[in-house]
Amino acid sequence: MNILLPDNSPMLTPEFTYGVATASFQIEGAAHNRLPSIWDTFCNTPNKIRDGSNGEIACNHFHLWQQDIDLIDSLEVDAYRLSISWPRVMTLSGELNPSGVDFYIQILDRLIAKGIKPYITLYHWDLPQYLEDRGGWLNRDTAFQFQHYANLISKAFGDRVFAYATLNEPFCSAYLGYEAGIHAPGIQGKQFGKKAAHHLLLAHGLALEVLRKNAPNAQHGIVLNFTPCYAETDNLKDREAAKLADEHFNQWYIKPIFDGAYPDLLAALPSDECPDIQEGDLAIISAPIDYLGINFYTRAVYRSDPLAGFQDVPPKDVPVTDMGWEIYPKAFSDLLISLNQKYLLPPIFITENGAAMADKLVDGKVNDEERVAYYNDHLNAVNNAISAGVDIRGYFAWSLMDNFEWAEGYLKRFGIVYVDYNTQERIIKASGHAYKALISNR
Ligand code: NOJ
Repeated sequence: MNILLPDNSPMLTPEFTYGVATASFQIEGAAHNRLPSIWDTFCNTPNKIRDGSNGEIACNHFHLWQQDIDLIDSLEVDAYRLSISWPRVMTLSGELNPSGVDFYIQILDRLIAKGIKPYITLYHWDLPQYLEDRGGWLNRDTAFQFQHYANLISKAFGDRVFAYATLNEPFCSAYLGYEAGIHAPGIQGKQFGKKAAHHLLLAHGLALEVLRKNAPNAQHGIVLNFTPCYAETDNLKDREAAKLADEHFNQWYIKPIFDGAYPDLLAALPSDECPDIQEGDLAIISAPIDYLGINFYTRAVYRSDPLAGFQDVPPKDVPVTDMGWEIYPKAFSDLLISLNQKYLLPPIFITENGAAMADKLVDGKVNDEERVAYYNDHLNAVNNAISAGVDIRGYFAWSLMDNFEWAEGYLKRFGIVYVDYNTQERIIKASGHAYKALISNR
């Protein structure tokens, strides 16, 4: 099975960037070579991770990074998106940890030597636990701690980094971590989510200032996730419900960046749910960025609810992935087109897209046809958005390899490469071969 794009697609030219993506906590392991993060604490809390697992070994990438880069190279991608573990590169006293920094410099140098462009994410959810002990993202000071870390690490990396993203999916950090409580640090309460979100966005803006100074030749941006909100019916009430959900979960994170303002919903929030917005914050948050990273997996459907305003309608009788997420590629093109209409956007990179499937290793092979179909349909959705005038410059598959899927532990496999966790063997799946063929046939 192949991934096929129309012959004249700009995605079949060498100017379009293809990559694979990972994140530190999900693949590295070697937890004892760094400070603890909120995810270590969360994993050690009973009943938080579905299979009771943790990130102590993960894919053992900390020790296998050389062969993993050879694997990335063998896929013929142009770029690799990885994240830096803040607790690996910083000490308790706020200085760089030389051995942690060295680990990433070796990775960056090997990528560059192979002609693979490094796309660095500075925060992919692994907050040092000592900062959580001081209030984490509910404490405004964490934004300044992030700026400090971004300053030191970008100086240390010099000109090795092609593109920086400050944060990955601040929605997940804020909402899942500090409101729904299903991600680390597991705090629950409506009064916390938007406060954490504001400090995260402030951290983004503050980091941008130092990144621009220290890495003037790199591209600077942020990675946001979107789950487009659809109404269950065409009734006005359901449409309003979907719009409200969209403001909470999607627009809340993008509007401050491009418009320097929160959605109208801010005015309607009860006072205890309001973020602490200080003078000048929105100017910092809305400083221009060079690119926007977009992560897309699925859509959500809502109906009106008299109490909460909206209620999520779970997918029924539709195709879903192993996460239970509806497969609906049209939402991807619709999303890209609508964001392009709403905001004055810089070039877009799809920094994550992919699917968990119940993969089976049979005779040394993984024939993940459903994932190949997912990639085919979603890459074509990106192509449709480009045809409609959206400036999209690249696409990263999530993920390079199976890894620690947060609250789901190792039960969900997102890789285009299979990981045998008993032997740490990597086996390229059919989707990996198809992705490679797409890239190398350009
Ligand atoms: C988004 C996150 O950035 C990534 O860490 C996660 O594994 C994927 N989504 C899949 O859920």
